[in-house]
Amino acid sequence: MPFVGLCGAGAGVNLGLGGLCPGRVAVRRKGQVAMRKRIVIIGGDGFCGWPTALRLSKLGHEITIVDNLSRRAIDAELGARSLTPIRSLSERIDAWFDVTGHYIRPERIDVAREYDALCDLLAEIRPHALVHFGEQRAAPYSMKDAAHKRYTVDNNIRATHNILVALTHLGLDTHLVHLGTMGVYGYDDAGIEIPEGYLPVFVADGEGGLHQRQILYPAAPGSVYHMTKVMDQRMFAYYAKNDRLRITDLHQGIVWGTQTDETRLDERLINRFDYDGDYGTVLNRFLMQAATGHPLTVHGTGGQTRAFINIHDTVNCITLAVAHPPEPGDRVKILNQMTETHRVRDLARLVAELTGVEVALVPNPRNEAAENDLFVSNKTFLDLGLHPITLREGLMRETVEIAERYIDRVLPETVPARSTWTAAQAPGEVSEAALSRARRLEPAS
Ligand SMILES: NC(=O)c1ccc[n+]([C@@H]2O[C@H](COP(=O)([O-])OP(=O)(O)OC[C@H]3O[C@@H](n4cnc5c(N)ncnc54)[C@H](O)[C@@H]3O)[C@@H](O)[C@H]2O)c1
Repeated sequence: MPFVGLCGAGAGVNLGLGGLCPGRVAVRRKGQVAMRKRIVIIGGDGFCGWPTALRLSKLGHEITIVDNLSRRAIDAELGARSLTPIRSLSERIDAWFDVTGHYIRPERIDVAREYDALCDLLAEIRPHALVHFGEQRAAPYSMKDAAHKRYTVDNNIRATHNILVALTHLGLDTHLVHLGTMGVYGYDDAGIEIPEGYLPVFVADGEGGLHQRQILYPAAPGSVYHMTKVMDQRMFAYYAKNDRLRITDLHQGIVWGTQTDETRLDERLINRFDYDGDYGTVLNRFLMQAATGHPLTVHGTGGQTRAFINIHDTVNCITLAVAHPPEPGDRVKILNQMTETHRVRDLARLVAELTGVEVALVPNPRNEAAENDLFVSNKTFLDLGLHPITLREGLMRETVEIAERYIDRVLPETVPARSTWTAAQAPGEVSEAALSRARRLEPAS
């Protein structure tokens, strides 16, 4: 279903004119790529998808955003909202055209449920690349209850499989770039550096011989959401082998930060900042708690180590991935899209140092190891020229630019993580007893 009235004054429905808004002329600018690609971005209204669409559009590619706006509907369901005042997709696209002269085509399609509409669009565009962000991405949301577990599986698995089937049956040579998660590897403290997707194993043949094989790194999902990403992986392996689809799967760490060079150009382009108990990642929760003077809620001992990446680097990585597709017949190209690891309690210390707020240890609503180490290879992106922004250097800007600036919009009651993994877990809230135990941790050495 096309959006209506997205091309500014006077323009009506999208007429499918190869990405150019009727009456508007795309301007070629310095820094644009020589090869203009047609790129479909599924989930392009979301936190990672929107800044990626802007970057690829700025580089001169012809961009179509496909989104069913489910993320905005989930905000309404949860009584939550982005801290930053995000505009409607149509306003965003108009603003982008006003500021840069680049037009982005929007299409409202539920790729999990509207297979025919997806096929029609792909048949018309014949994209060089399709970037797939279009999944329910919050682990706590996926664990709320039976209905949310079922929704997450139905939405994510169907979305991914519909895309794979559509590309195959249309006979398209489209490079599919998918956003996976570091969570497929699990946090089992394997004591080895996690490789980029594949693990070499040696199998004894019983006659004294050893045979080397490369297998997908054994998956250990920690939630229903993560489980869907594991299932995505298996589908990718099958379609890459059987139908020679060109697929890159990016196992991404927790994304922090809000703005990129493009979303900073105009306040109407601002990116979303989620901080609620279901969609807010740990760092955003800490930033909001610090800004409202609430103790930082560290789940359990805070000994969980996780991988992180700044939104600016996410966009850079996806741009690099789009520029370096695998060949038809290659196995799925799996890259670890993360730049650093942090233990949660060290992260809390960092935010506490910056803001002077206290830290509270609260029950862990998740069923996970209390402590783990994490070593990850991200060699490919570093070799391709990625220069990561570190949390320590970027956190102050994030605090001032976002957390403090929009603090009047915060809904404090939405911050605690209340979704529990099992009936044995308790919400990650500061009880009266925990509040009285709240204490400032020693600064990290
Ligand atoms: N944000 C992170 O920290 C993070 C970390 C690791 C991996 N990822 C992955 O990156 C991707 C994007 O994450 P995000 O943070 O931008 O999420 P998001 O929820 O902000 O964006 C996802 C977008 O996809 C759309 N969508 C969902 N289901 C759809 C469907 N069936 N049809 C069409 N559109 C649909 C939503 O409306 C939303 O705009 C996800 O697949 C997520 O698993 C994100």
